[in-house]
Amino acid sequence: MSGYEPPWKRTQRCSDTRAEHVGQEVVLCGWVRKRRDHGGLIFVDLGDYTGTTQVVFVPEHADAFALAEGLRSEYVVAIKGSVRRRPEGTVNPSLATGEIEVVAKEIQLLSESETPPFLIQDDIEVNEELRLRHRFLDLRRPEMQKILRLRHKVYQASRTYLDSRGFCEVETPVLTKTTPEGARDFLVPSRLSQGMFYALPQSPQLFKQVLVCAGVDRYYQIVRCFRDEDFRANRQPEFTQIDIEMSFVDEADVSGIVEGLVAKVWKEAAGIEVKTPFLRMSYEEAMNRFGVDAPDMRFGLELSDVSELFKESSFNVFRKVVESGGVVKGLKFPGGATMSRKETDDLEVLVKNYGASGLAWVKWDGSEIKSPLAKFIDDGLANELVSRFELEDGDIAFLVADRFAKACAALGALRVQLARQAELIEEDKLAFAWVDNFPLFEFDEDAKRFVAVHHPFTSPLLRDDADFDKLKQDPSGLSARAYDLVLNGQEIAGGSIRIHRRDIQEIVFRHLGIGEEEAKGKFGFLLEALSFGAPPHGGIAFGLDRMVMLLAGTDSIRDVIAFPKAHSGMDLMVGAPTIVDNQQLSELGVKITAPPEKRS
Ligand code: AMO
Ligand code: AMP
Repeated sequence: MSGYEPPWKRTQRCSDTRAEHVGQEVVLCGWVRKRRDHGGLIFVDLGDYTGTTQVVFVPEHADAFALAEGLRSEYVVAIKGSVRRRPEGTVNPSLATGEIEVVAKEIQLLSESETPPFLIQDDIEVNEELRLRHRFLDLRRPEMQKILRLRHKVYQASRTYLDSRGFCEVETPVLTKTTPEGARDFLVPSRLSQGMFYALPQSPQLFKQVLVCAGVDRYYQIVRCFRDEDFRANRQPEFTQIDIEMSFVDEADVSGIVEGLVAKVWKEAAGIEVKTPFLRMSYEEAMNRFGVDAPDMRFGLELSDVSELFKESSFNVFRKVVESGGVVKGLKFPGGATMSRKETDDLEVLVKNYGASGLAWVKWDGSEIKSPLAKFIDDGLANELVSRFELEDGDIAFLVADRFAKACAALGALRVQLARQAELIEEDKLAFAWVDNFPLFEFDEDAKRFVAVHHPFTSPLLRDDADFDKLKQDPSGLSARAYDLVLNGQEIAGGSIRIHRRDIQEIVFRHLGIGEEEAKGKFGFLLEALSFGAPPHGGIAFGLDRMVMLLAGTDSIRDVIAFPKAHSGMDLMVGAPTIVDNQQLSELGVKITAPPEKRS
């Protein structure tokens, strides 16, 4: 490119050029998506985020025609021309602008492009690292543009809805102190207080509680959270929550607001009417029936517990599991009796990955069972299994004997795998459910102490003095006033009614092994806020990225975040994290001890 001319101003976006503009002079700006030479004519699909318009270069406009001959993919141009109806037979009904084309009279080359490392179009099969490295090109693809705008609609709908319900958006600090949500903290060294670190918030949990103590009444924030945890398809170290807290509420108030928000978001962002109220089930029921606390209820294949059938059976392996407090659970897979040995073996590998020690199965052909257990169990037990699983001719039942948690995890995963294999999952279905009544604490065998199932600020379910006494003495059987919102097998939001009494918060800290000094040091400000008139309060936080994933129908959380981290935790485009120079380190009072090979 030589010389300089100020860029022309466009009159409209590419896809906004329609039949009603026929005869008009327009200026379009955009990227060259495709160029086709047809002898005396050159066609260019000129695109922006709205779509493309066909531009025709004709030899009569010789300068423009000559320039058009040099156009390549992703060059940026402005063209001046007139809109005309496409000739008979060349109308493209699948394109919004398919009735018209723009005859270019002048062209301005705004920017050239090197050959892109992948095609700027949907459904490309490209290594994700390459996409992330060139995110400016990847995001230019129509499907990515669509997701960015979908995400924008989710922000807008949420803000409008929460504003209409009296919520006030407040920003909370990013440079702060640890907020325990069960992950590792990201730390930022302080220059002014050498040897000290800020932690990036795992959530604004404590700030939002302080805000309602400060009288904000109803708070929300669309907020970035930071958690240094292992990667999964639905996790990022840096992600976004729609964070909510409300004063003077109970569970029903929170779920009412949340259901209204979900209905509004799905309506505005996807045009879908969501039915409310959502189904509600306890944690125990979810585990018993589906093996997981975030069940996918778009299909059946529910689990049954058949422990008592094996309590006195002659099959030692299973009997011993039950005798030692474990369970035998299983599920029926209709029509599965035709599965080959290889297929059942593959499923056994799957459940073993979830920690189960084996996978037994029973096939039923209407008169006889076929099973690796057949030689260990008598006819009576075989018949009982057939009747308990309601097996019909051609069905198979799978069984796992293990500790409750392991059996559930294994069968929960098996259930999903079988549903996928048999295509039982209705992709368009939306199965929302509340899961509540979680246990307050879990006993951590390694640390030999209780850990909070939700977070330490969640209120125990206290119905009366007797429950309060239990909390003081032995809280092991108590439930938490916590709830998760599940959609199609994914937890999209989680929250709880909080502790608003300092004495109760202190008891909970004590059970969690957080001593008085430690509690003061870490959460002193919260305890103080609770000492100066704290309203009863509760709230919830949505995983916004997961919500957008489900709305967009994508399997990867990275597709709904403009600049996500790769599996390695790296931002491949900017190249973060980076090594910093010694000057900076010494200002911070930080010395690197990692060996050089760990730093590349
Ligand atoms: P919780 O830890 O359950 O609760 O988080 C709330 C929601 O955030 C989403 N989420 C994530 N999304 C992407 N990547 C991650 N690494 C990630 N971790 C969590 C999930 C989850 O449901 N302060 C409490 C909320 C409260 O009690 O009000 C909290 O953060 O969708
Ligand atoms: P074995 O006697 O160890 O060969 O086991 C007989 C069958 O029971 C095999 O198909 C095993 O996979 C299965 N099995 C063994 N242990 C378990 C278990 N804990 N849960 C489910 N199936 C098991």
